[in-house]
Amino acid sequence: MIPAIPSRPAFPGFFVTGTDTEIGKTAISAALTRLLGQQGRRVVAIKPIAAGLDLVEGQWLNDDVQRLRAACSLEVQDHEVGPLQLRHACAPHIAAKLEGVVIDPQPLLSAIKRTAAKADFSVVEGVGGFCVPLHEPTSAPTSAPTQATPAAPPSEQKPDSNLEARSHPARRWDSADLAVDLALPVVLVVGMRLGCINHAVLSAEAIRARGLKLVGWVANHVDPHMGHADDNFATLSQLLGAPCWGRVPFLSEPLPDHIMPHLNLQAVLKAFSALPPGLPQLTTLPSLPSLPTTRSKKIVILISGSGSNMQAIAEAAQTEQWAERHGIHIAAVVSNRADAVGLQTARKMGLHTEVLPHTQFETRAEFDSALRDCINRFAPDLVVLAGFMRVLTAAFVQHFAGRLINIHPALLPAFPGLNTHQRALDAGCQFAGATVHEVSVEVDQGRILAQAVVPVLPDDDAGRLAHRVLMAEHRLYPQAVLQKLIQPKNRSQNYSAEGEARQGGLQHPV
Ligand code: GRF
Repeated sequence: MIPAIPSRPAFPGFFVTGTDTEIGKTAISAALTRLLGQQGRRVVAIKPIAAGLDLVEGQWLNDDVQRLRAACSLEVQDHEVGPLQLRHACAPHIAAKLEGVVIDPQPLLSAIKRTAAKADFSVVEGVGGFCVPLHEPTSAPTSAPTQATPAAPPSEQKPDSNLEARSHPARRWDSADLAVDLALPVVLVVGMRLGCINHAVLSAEAIRARGLKLVGWVANHVDPHMGHADDNFATLSQLLGAPCWGRVPFLSEPLPDHIMPHLNLQAVLKAFSALPPGLPQLTTLPSLPSLPTTRSKKIVILISGSGSNMQAIAEAAQTEQWAERHGIHIAAVVSNRADAVGLQTARKMGLHTEVLPHTQFETRAEFDSALRDCINRFAPDLVVLAGFMRVLTAAFVQHFAGRLINIHPALLPAFPGLNTHQRALDAGCQFAGATVHEVSVEVDQGRILAQAVVPVLPDDDAGRLAHRVLMAEHRLYPQAVLQKLIQPKNRSQNYSAEGEARQGGLQHPV
């Protein structure tokens, strides 16, 4: 029987569900919690039912609960974030049965509400997929239940005592019922891997069939080998009928700080701009404060032509709020050609532009010297070559050593130089791509920072291939720039172009 849905949410917040277990639901929930907490409000994450405890220095802890607790913007205890923690890492009704427990809805709901009452906004993470049962399919437990967590953590982490098992729950209950009982809007995390479209569509249908609103979805790339990731993403965008709150690439360390740049805060805020009267409106929050610990970082971008990579970087900086969240600003766009189309784009985007025509200088060295002085006026942390069609002198490169990067339309070290796409086709390559690299004195030979792989298709000519590689560049370069500025020195990251991503080295998709 479909339970009646309360007329309004139990508290301001949303319920996070996923297409499956192990698809990064907790990582995304933690990142969303941190992101919203940075708006200056008290945001708490709650994992009502957590399965799997590890003994850590004498304490029974659930890893998800620890990660969520760390993301909260207010002080909360383990048992407030994870009111019911089961010892065995398996389906909750089975974990409960193993402990002689029946999960009791009412005290669990009360515990969730108590935690939520401490905060302005709550991110409630479901367990497993949307319809995971919380009760045995049979109507009543076969043995007298005992406690929710036999291996009880120390008192300050002990799950709420009201949650001790009750012998005869009112009815069968599943994770979807939990969302319904809280009447929360739902966010769907889609684990991007083969089969995800079906899982996502079924989940969306189930959410809506329960009378709940699907307010957003997040694409989380959990399979670095996934083929046709962009096509899958496009299909999901069309089928799910809800705004996408972010597309998170495969990350070897999916920490909130690494995920947040890939989430769309504006989409999240928009979803909560029409909460029922009386509930806090997230959109009325004060504008995003700069992080006190973040030093301002400046980028200068050099272009010569269409500047589409510059545009991609500038758009990512805007939509992902690099300034507010990382203190990163594009200080100037500099071109050696006054007629570069990218200059107009930059001006329309409100960016400061400079033109330094190389034709006004007798020698390459003189131009580079003037260019260096022009750039230095902005004291950049990073100089980004984005279709800057000049070979730079050693003196210039050495001056900006370690903070000068370029994007090259080939999978370096293959095909340095010009005419890369035709050369890749002539060589019979099955894969092409783009490389972001540090600039060294030798052209196209600096340390590789990130790569994107694009398959060569049977009917490709140089133009078609160039176009698809450029599309991949537009995804790759902004993320590489961001990572270069926010990651510790000497870490490299490879980002998927059409679904394939690797850390620390490139592998071809199969
Ligand atoms: C890109 O293909 C890039 O790889 C190469 O120059 C081209 C620049 O294109 N270095 P755009 O000016 O960013 O559109």
